Amino acid sequence: MNRRLRKIALTAHVTSSVGWLGAVAVFLALAVAGLASGSAQTVRGAYLAMEVTGWFVLVPLSFASLLTGLVQSLGSTWGLFRHYWVLFKLLINVVATVLLLVHMQVIGRVADAAAVASLADGELFGMRVQLLADAAAAVLILLVAVTLSVYKPKGMTRYGWRRQQESRAGHTALTRREARAS
Ligand code: HEM
Repeated sequence: MNRRLRKIALTAHVTSSVGWLGAVAVFLALAVAGLASGSAQTVRGAYLAMEVTGWFVLVPLSFASLLTGLVQSLGSTWGLFRHYWVLFKLLINVVATVLLLVHMQVIGRVADAAAVASLADGELFGMRVQLLADAAAAVLILLVAVTLSVYKPKGMTRYGWRRQQESRAGHTALTRREARAS
């Protein structure tokens, strides 16, 4: 990728990834309101909003983050399997996306129940606590992903080392050939 394209791709990646984190923070606030509020209307509104934001904001942003992350890795010298921080982020993204899709079924059930009942008697309590705990865990794990992205810890995989040695050896051979030719 040339410099201009790289900047555009990086902007898309940061926007979708950090946007995903922000949306999960909203999700967490809604999960707290759904569990703790004494107002039936607030509880209903919270779970209905969670279902809508889940499908139309969180799921698209998680896939956009993955896709743009793959472009960033494969279109730059970072690579996908060379640095542990990139590998960890890939793992975080894939696991978080799968868990999100699984949770959308739970959110659907709670939202359906909230649409017809007040949930004031602790209905579906276990599921609602699970939504809260998982939203909190998702905020933390995405914060880890942001921190890894900014600090980019040095650790390299075996594959990364091998590729680095190969490219250094190739560079040295080229320089020698050029020196002999001149
Ligand atoms: C899990 C959610 C993710 C978050 C929150 C996230 C966040 C970020 C942020 C904030 C940056 C900018 C860092 C900087 O420029 O200093 C970044 C860069 C980067 N991300 Fe992600 N990312 C995520 C997922 C991924 C995935 C899945 C991949 C790889 C498949 C990836 C690969 C990269 C690469 C290679 C860069 C460096 C780009 C460069 O400097 O050229 N990211 N990420």
